[in-house]
Amino acid sequence: METISIDLDNKGYSIHIESNLLARIPTLLDPADSWAVITDEMVNSLYGQSLLENWPSDLVHMIMLPVGEAVKSLQTVEEVAGKMLELGMTRHSAVLALGGGVVGDVAGFCASIYMRGIRYIQVPTTLLAQVDSSVGGKTGVNLPQGKNIMGSFYQPQGVFIDTQTLSTLPKRHLISGMGEVIKYGVIYDYEFLGYLGSHMADILNLEEAVIKNVIRRCCEIKAEVVAKDEKEQGLRKILNCGHTVGHALEAARKYRQYTHGEAVLIGLYVETLMAEKIGLIDEDYCNEILDLVQKTGIDVKFEVPLERLIRSMLKDKKNRARRVSFILPSGKGETSEVFLTEQEALGLLRML
Ligand SMILES: NC(=O)c1ccc[n+]([C@@H]2O[C@H](COP(=O)([O-])OP(=O)(O)OC[C@H]3O[C@@H](n4cnc5c(N)ncnc54)[C@H](O)[C@@H]3O)[C@@H](O)[C@H]2O)c1
Ligand SMILES: [Zn+2]
Repeated sequence: METISIDLDNKGYSIHIESNLLARIPTLLDPADSWAVITDEMVNSLYGQSLLENWPSDLVHMIMLPVGEAVKSLQTVEEVAGKMLELGMTRHSAVLALGGGVVGDVAGFCASIYMRGIRYIQVPTTLLAQVDSSVGGKTGVNLPQGKNIMGSFYQPQGVFIDTQTLSTLPKRHLISGMGEVIKYGVIYDYEFLGYLGSHMADILNLEEAVIKNVIRRCCEIKAEVVAKDEKEQGLRKILNCGHTVGHALEAARKYRQYTHGEAVLIGLYVETLMAEKIGLIDEDYCNEILDLVQKTGIDVKFEVPLERLIRSMLKDKKNRARRVSFILPSGKGETSEVFLTEQEALGLLRML
């Protein structure tokens, strides 16, 4: 089993990566009075049984959520907390999130506020969740007015990644996960970017050694960044590369057309072009990133009017003084934060 440590004063934890790990997880956990496994109907039907195989049934309860982003709501939080209370869960109970980013975000948020906070474990089952959302402690739900508006920074006690679960993931979600994977190369590790370029087919075919390498490197990078800046006061912002355009695309299409990862892939493409236009990177490096994004098979063309996109960007959490913040590639494995006015951003996007 591969293990990566994330160093955070008194809240550090380990990320474990292994194939066929699910059934062993209950034997690797610190004891708790009782456990709630929070999952969705799809993931439960595929992996619920394997996880519960070695778990005494009087210790563990399943809480099932419907599939989809709509479940990331305050109403769900209230329902889940109500069930946990009914099940007799106390401050000495714990939560295990089994699923993609949606389940992880909801379960983590519930754990962070139930009886002022109980322990939780992440068992991510999508590529996006394995390389990104399960690590770093961002939890939360959406309001009708916006994504991830209500949430907390609350670190899990451990992350268990069973790479075998990716075998059932629909191709669309595998490609989505590649948005965050490529992002790590762009912001932090040029050599890794090259590795992705030469192994894209193996990754999309889930070649075991390659996919494990990829997940490990992404978790290492996220762990390093989060350890240096847990609450996004500075460095952690680099994780938002590709996300100013990505979030705006998702919002402009009311979260119906693009998955988060697809929007990030298109966001990386557009933001790389922007970086080249303003002279932050040269044409060769720009093309290297663009080629890599396209190798995933994503269609980078979008139909959203640029004015609409900018309107969404003006609501971005990172903005300052009505200037839109972009984390743009500025060198191999490096980024810079660039602030643009509405007019400057629109002008630049029109030139691409
Ligand atoms: N907390 C963070 O740091 C962070 C970072 C990035 C994204 N996110 C959030 O993550 C969410 C997106 O997560 P996601 O892309 O994992 O989507 P998701 O959780 O909606 O999962 C995608 C789909 O795949 C299914 N699924 C999950 N695992 C499967 C498997 N192994 N086999 C077959 N089907 C499987 C799910 O049922 C769902 O239908 C968004 O809400 C986004 O805001 C959070
Ligand atoms: Zn993201």
